[in-house]
Amino acid sequence: MRRHLVVHVVGARPNYMKVAPVYSELEQLGTVEQRLVHTGQHYDPEINDVFFAELPLPKPHTQLTVGSGSHAEQTARALVELERLFIELRPDLVVVPGDVNSTLAAALAAAKLNIAVCHLEAGLRSFDPTMPEEHNRRLTDHVSSLLLTPSEDANENLIVEGVAPEKIELVGNTMIDTLLANVEAAIELEAWREFELRRKGYVLVTLHRPALVDSTHLITETLWGLEEIARQIPVIFPVHPRTRARLEAAGAVPERVKLVAPLPYTRFLSLQAGASGVVTDSGGIQEETTVLGIPCFTLRDNTERPVTVTHGTNVVLGLNPERLPEIPSRLRWPRRNVVPPLWDGLAGRRAALAIEELLGAAQPKRVAVTASNGNGTRNRAVSVPVAAPAPVG
Ligand code: UD1
Repeated sequence: MRRHLVVHVVGARPNYMKVAPVYSELEQLGTVEQRLVHTGQHYDPEINDVFFAELPLPKPHTQLTVGSGSHAEQTARALVELERLFIELRPDLVVVPGDVNSTLAAALAAAKLNIAVCHLEAGLRSFDPTMPEEHNRRLTDHVSSLLLTPSEDANENLIVEGVAPEKIELVGNTMIDTLLANVEAAIELEAWREFELRRKGYVLVTLHRPALVDSTHLITETLWGLEEIARQIPVIFPVHPRTRARLEAAGAVPERVKLVAPLPYTRFLSLQAGASGVVTDSGGIQEETTVLGIPCFTLRDNTERPVTVTHGTNVVLGLNPERLPEIPSRLRWPRRNVVPPLWDGLAGRRAALAIEELLGAAQPKRVAVTASNGNGTRNRAVSVPVAAPAPVG
């Protein structure tokens, strides 16, 4: 009998760390056939190829060449190419992670061909319609048949939007699975040494969001703020290609801040683990610093990951670079961070079991647990895998 075919579609850097644990757990269960498709949204080796070398992901079975462009161009190219591919492959399920343009394109192409869609990292909301990712998240969620969420707030958002509860499964954070699998090796690597930094003696920066870097005023102010931090503590900034282009266009040249090329996964994780604090506008880094217990200062007006503030180490500074100079005095707070529930290294396993169950590939043993929506007005039962899956018949 033909095994069910699951196609995972990735396109941009943060997708790889999210999909890898799910791919590898499904591979271990051995009950479905899998294909990895890369849209080519990210194509520079330094933000693409190096990640595949480090993660438990095969080289993509299909490599598309969507590349850069406006949102419409990039999404439309991916939509056309993915539709063609899905017609050829006829998958039973398409798995899409996160919120990038490739995510939406894959979800839409599959849904219109009546192929079931599984959204990994469903339900996150910044409630900020100026973020392209917010549209990608909402639209992807609403064409998905299986919505795998990382935290309870995501379940609540989906319920409020009218998503049927039986489609939603709280599995935890698969990107944290990848972090936990690599953190020991990352710390041993001591990547700070290669940049002549001391452990817990520097601030790490990552910035790439259009809301910040596409504004000449904001990127210039930000560099000024980082220079102020660097008067007190070294600052290292691995620069995303988009940010590098904008800095060059603005003629902004730092004196003290150390700009370096984007780093491979383990080296970047090493720098994160060794930092005194992190300044970012990335979603994933807010989550990673929460688990690592590193103070994180988010240069955005909002976050779609509120658990990193309520449980973790994240402070949302607002899109206010003038607040950057306060960071050196805020690096040594008492660490009371709590790792959010199910950010335990087993999210990929739970995701794989949920996928199997959707496809009817196996019947794992499950127990019902109650999840509260936090405001006491509505409770919902979610099922959590409790044991290894039953053998496939
Ligand atoms: C994308 C995602 C964002 C994610 C980020 C991670 C969307 C809407 N945005 O943003 O959510 O956090 O990836 O990095 O999908 N470029 C290169 N080389 C590359 C890729 C891009 O030089 O390999 C440059 C191009 O000038 C391009 C620009 O970066 O126009 C932006 O790339 P794009 O993929 O459109 O968005 P990101 O900013 O990377």
